[in-house]
Amino acid sequence: MGRFIKTNGRHRNLEGWPLVFTVLVTLSVLIGGVVEFLPLVLVSENIPTIETVEPWTPLELAGRDLYIREGCNNCHSQMVRPFRHEIERYGEYGKPGETIYERPFLWGSKRTGPDLSRVGGKYPNLWHVRHFDDPRSTSPRSIMPRYNWLLERELKVSTIPRRMQVLQTLGTPYTDQEIQNGIEIAQQQAREIAEDIRTTGGPDNLADKEIVAMVAYMQRLGADLARSTAATGGASTESVATSGGPGGSR
Ligand code: HEC
Repeated sequence: MGRFIKTNGRHRNLEGWPLVFTVLVTLSVLIGGVVEFLPLVLVSENIPTIETVEPWTPLELAGRDLYIREGCNNCHSQMVRPFRHEIERYGEYGKPGETIYERPFLWGSKRTGPDLSRVGGKYPNLWHVRHFDDPRSTSPRSIMPRYNWLLERELKVSTIPRRMQVLQTLGTPYTDQEIQNGIEIAQQQAREIAEDIRTTGGPDNLADKEIVAMVAYMQRLGADLARSTAATGGASTESVATSGGPGGSR
């Protein structure tokens, strides 16, 4: 090794000025970082869009906000990594195009519980109701806390249009009409889910409770990607965005 290191070259002199050397190293690391990072942010073609990925419905959006309020992301990730053991356990690995409407991201960094990004459709609605009411009733020895108040607290729908509006400003393609009718659209979906819960043997008073929003959100996780893989018989369709569509430039 020794003979490769020049002991009295210009570099050696530079190393003798710790402050200058530190500044130069910092600069070169920064330049390298910017060169790697900028194209990802500025070139929308770098984020392949997936045609079946659509914005959250108003009710799912409300459910997602509950997910954040309850801190579910402290125990659950929403990103499957591209490793065989992950894919065998959870399903298709996470794609950037899946999360173009995610503000903020909920990828998470801790998995006390399993990853949830593919949980949509895995269980019936009623399973989720029972699980949130008492995780031990569906999953013996589960260490997940109870969220039984979701079955009792009324879902606050009045703020839904405003939340959609903010996301629209940020680039999520909600139409003005959808925003205007946000409350009714949410209540319609809530009634459908509550009806399904009732007919499968669950409680029958849940249509205006927080739980239906949370269940709606759970059932949507991964559903868009599943639709895209169903259409192509296995391989997911990632098409390259040609114009900077909503969120396309992130
Ligand atoms: C203290 C950590 C913890 C918190 C907080 C937590 N969970 Fe869990 N969760 C778990 C564990 C552990 C499991 C696996 C055992 C089970 O099914 O209950 C689990 C399982 C699940 C499952 C079933 C996943 C599957 O594929 O079987 C869902 C859905 C779920 N949690 C949703 C939530 C939601 C929504 C919240 C927030 C309201 C939440 N969890 C909060 C630990 C947690």
